[in-house]
Amino acid sequence: MTTKPRLLTGDRPTGRLHLGHYVGSLRNRVRLQHQYDSFFIIADLHTMTTKPEPQYIKEIPTYIREIVLDYLAVGIDPNVSTIFVQSAIPETYEMNLLFEMLVTVPRLERMPTLKDMARDANIDSMPFGLLGYPVLQAVDILLPRANVVPVGRDNQSHVELAREMARKFNNFYGKEIFPEPESIIGDGALLVGTDGQGKMSKSLGNAIYLSDDAKTVEEKVKGMYTDPKRLRATDPGTVEGNPVFIYHDAFNPSYAEVDDLKERYRKGQVGDVEVKEKLAKAINAFLEPIREKRAYYLAHPTIPRDVLANGIRRMQTEAKETMTLVRDVTGLSYSLDLFADEVDIFGNEE
Ligand code: TRP
Repeated sequence: MTTKPRLLTGDRPTGRLHLGHYVGSLRNRVRLQHQYDSFFIIADLHTMTTKPEPQYIKEIPTYIREIVLDYLAVGIDPNVSTIFVQSAIPETYEMNLLFEMLVTVPRLERMPTLKDMARDANIDSMPFGLLGYPVLQAVDILLPRANVVPVGRDNQSHVELAREMARKFNNFYGKEIFPEPESIIGDGALLVGTDGQGKMSKSLGNAIYLSDDAKTVEEKVKGMYTDPKRLRATDPGTVEGNPVFIYHDAFNPSYAEVDDLKERYRKGQVGDVEVKEKLAKAINAFLEPIREKRAYYLAHPTIPRDVLANGIRRMQTEAKETMTLVRDVTGLSYSLDLFADEVDIFGNEE
């Protein structure tokens, strides 16, 4: 039996994971998984808050598979961590309804994230379910009674709501069922996309995926945005905020090589071509072991399948336990007794 504090975090299955995910959170998770009893949720129900149509639901299983492979490839260790799919845990739906009673609409309308999500999805009137996105996330966090939640800055307000809801529930029903979960904000800044325009993201088409092959990485790096004011290799260039150097700092293990490139770049003694060739090499060296592991799991598909099945089973057990506590303290356990012989709300005659 493990008595480590618990960690929960995860991703929506909307595509393969990329270098931005790695720097922003995967790296952190791989490190933290040994310190905590860790749960990684693939939040498929959350994708439905903006995309409930059947054609999108049809894509979800493929993305779930990609994410499990990416998790395993970067080193999430299924011997210590639990990977599961949100919709496979029926208590998620059940507890979500109960938690909806503990939050007001104005509180949710003040969340800084939801309007942006609606706008990005071209939704002009807020769906009830999207307004409830952070409530559902609180349920994810509280179902395994997690103590810590490593997330990016963009999710910090959601964890804050989960804290409030845990507190409210415990006060309301008079028992400390839920710990107040704390967020752990990753140290890495958001990784800029290859276009230098904003953070790396699938929807902006500026991502290098963990599963990209070497040739694809070379091409993407070749097309990267650098210092726009530098026209010739002999012009002095700017290193600060320059995506190719941000990536060199993140992925090139040779400080000496990076320092040398930066120095020559500033003096106009190196061309973009050399800087990019060395960068592509560094990223490919970084990705190679990840690709190898991914290929291994692809070739041995019973392994990821069992990992997910075991993770789901473990989380189902945890969710049942929590839901039993919730039914007990709320008094809702009466519904299970309605058909029991011993107790009946119409009174026992004999
Ligand atoms: N909201 C997260 C995202 O931005 C995904 C997510 C769903 C999550 N449930 C969670 C993250 C619980 C941390 C904890 O994709």
